[in-house]
Amino acid sequence: MHTSEEWDVVIIGAGPIGLSTAWNYARENKQHKVLVLDKYGLMTQLAGTSGEERHWRLQYSEIDIFRLTLEADKLWQALEKNADRKLIHRTGSLWFGDADVWTNEGQITQTMKSMDEMALPYERLSIRAIEQRFGFTHFDANYEGFLQRDGGVIDVKGTLSALYALASELNVSFAFGQEVVALEPDSTGVTVIGAEQRFRARKVLVASGPGSKKLVGQLDIDLALSTYEMACISMLRSERTTANDPFWFAFQQPVASDSNLFYGFPPNPWSVNGFDRLGTDFEVDPLSDTHGPSYRANPLHVERALEFAQRHMPFLAPDREHYASSCLAVLPTDPQRQFYLDSARGRCHGGENVVVSAGGWAFKFTPLMGEICADLLSDKSPRWDISALRF
Ligand code: BEZ
Repeated sequence: MHTSEEWDVVIIGAGPIGLSTAWNYARENKQHKVLVLDKYGLMTQLAGTSGEERHWRLQYSEIDIFRLTLEADKLWQALEKNADRKLIHRTGSLWFGDADVWTNEGQITQTMKSMDEMALPYERLSIRAIEQRFGFTHFDANYEGFLQRDGGVIDVKGTLSALYALASELNVSFAFGQEVVALEPDSTGVTVIGAEQRFRARKVLVASGPGSKKLVGQLDIDLALSTYEMACISMLRSERTTANDPFWFAFQQPVASDSNLFYGFPPNPWSVNGFDRLGTDFEVDPLSDTHGPSYRANPLHVERALEFAQRHMPFLAPDREHYASSCLAVLPTDPQRQFYLDSARGRCHGGENVVVSAGGWAFKFTPLMGEICADLLSDKSPRWDISALRF
């Protein structure tokens, strides 16, 4: 094994939070040496809802997280200015279904109350109005929903390449193909043990998506997270050529086999491929040490998505081929919690030198969580109230 390299900060994971932290930390600490490590490379597209886009929304059932999205919104606008490109396409966020069902996305009724409390405008819609306007059919008559027009979709590659370029301009270093197998924190820093090389840093951020739980688990920090491999299908449209349809999420009562939640990304405004992406949000069959990811969509879940498309989305082309993929969602097991983000201070020897960001549908918080992690790595109190995120 090679001898240690010395860094001020080592960031484990070149995903959105890792890159955003690297840029935010480096711009406030220009003389510091910052290294980002990743087991794979940039833009692996394995986590979250995968693919070219992520959902952007302001609304949350939980007021404390809702407040954070409003802060994130301002930071996205600042990032777009710095990157000189549009990253959020405000095509709208459409939620519909059984308004009383609670899911990992929250609940429609509670979210409408929260939007009222936060004075965020939205259009409340009957299910028949939604069907007429957006081309769906055959939803239960008791469904209802809303359209929030500030929501939409985030350009994933645009965001990651912008952050990579901004961090690189500030001399942040990157090492790809570097798997981290263990961390050894102590009172002056952290030894990062890679499969091939060791690194020494004053501070470390763990933001390695599905890998974070195991890495910090070795420090006896047990984050209650489960990882699910979720199926997604892409299909072309046969009709309905309206550009800029909103992202949608269907809230439904669970069925015996799964949580019965589906979401959809219509063809996005910046790409020309024209596919609708229909995803399953099924928290079933969590991965474990003995049951790892297959990186293939579960055929039963693909079947469920196709049934949903055939019944409710007549504008898709059923005679054309679909293609299926899978993505890894790392979600807190506690339904009251969305994310884990905190310093490990007091959790293990040298924990004050380790910051952890793990779990949740976090892409929409990229600029905010990057600033929070940069604050924690600098031993500063974060500028926002993160009590809902701490562990
Ligand atoms: C979200 O906005 O948090 C989300 C969107 C689609 C699937 C799961 C989560």
